[in-house]
Amino acid sequence: MTRIRKAVIPAAGLGTRFYPLTRAQPKEMLPLVDKPVIHYVVEEAVDSGLDEILIVVGAGKDAIINYFDNSVLDKQADNHLLDSFPEIYFVRQRQQLGLADSIRYAKKFVDDEPFVVLLGDTVYLSNDDLSVTEQMINVYNKKGSSVIALEQVPVEKVGNYGIAGGKADPEGIFRIDRLLEKPSPLEAPSNLGITGLYALEPEIFQFIERIKPGKNGELQLTDALSVMAAESQLFGFEINGQRFDIGNMEMWIQAFIKFVSMDRRYSKLFGEHQKEQ
Ligand code: UTP
Repeated sequence: MTRIRKAVIPAAGLGTRFYPLTRAQPKEMLPLVDKPVIHYVVEEAVDSGLDEILIVVGAGKDAIINYFDNSVLDKQADNHLLDSFPEIYFVRQRQQLGLADSIRYAKKFVDDEPFVVLLGDTVYLSNDDLSVTEQMINVYNKKGSSVIALEQVPVEKVGNYGIAGGKADPEGIFRIDRLLEKPSPLEAPSNLGITGLYALEPEIFQFIERIKPGKNGELQLTDALSVMAAESQLFGFEINGQRFDIGNMEMWIQAFIKFVSMDRRYSKLFGEHQKEQ
């Protein structure tokens, strides 16, 4: 089995939910304390042993590319922030036709190797010694087939997620038999929602070629994964950690508060604020 080395980070989405901020700034450049969200995403990939990284960008996303240049400010701050990062490749999605379309642009980069997809607007905090991405790679190494990361969602919120159905083995790894996009609580086969972290076999490209535009008229990765679950093999596991989907305003605010409260330089702001009340 091939070791997973490659990470693909789609970051070309329009960010409609962050309008008007996204008129002139990518949502992936929103700060979590003093670093943009995309920094944490690349760090998660690198810390998980992935050393070839492709970021899919598009119109209005040049700030992401610029961020990964060396900056005179690094010298002034005596900061070696990006030194541990490998070379980062970029490709432009020509038109925002959906997440699955954006992954198509990674085909040449991926070649015939398995790869990890981390969304450019989603960060994870692990409750474990292993990062959430490493937890997923371990499942991939056990099963030798594509794996997606899942999390429990409140039953009344299943309609906001892609939901997985399937059977768990004694280790808690699910063999997924179907994926439903935003089902009603009655239709939902479980309350396990797709988090946006995937370890994929290159066969995913064949399934993407076969799907038609789905929800919002976009090519949805969930639709391609449904075909994979039916015709090949797809596994799922529940993450041991917390996920923040920064593409959603409430979660960005929650993430910002969480990251500030974990940062020794600023965590006291919360303490003082609470004392005043
Ligand atoms: P989202 O569903 O969050 O969509 O995409 P979005 O377009 O970024 O945001 P809204 O809905 O307009 O507010 C999930 C992931 O897929 C990427 C996004 O950048 C994000 O990482 N994506 C989505 C693309 O790269 N290209 C697309 O055409 C669509």
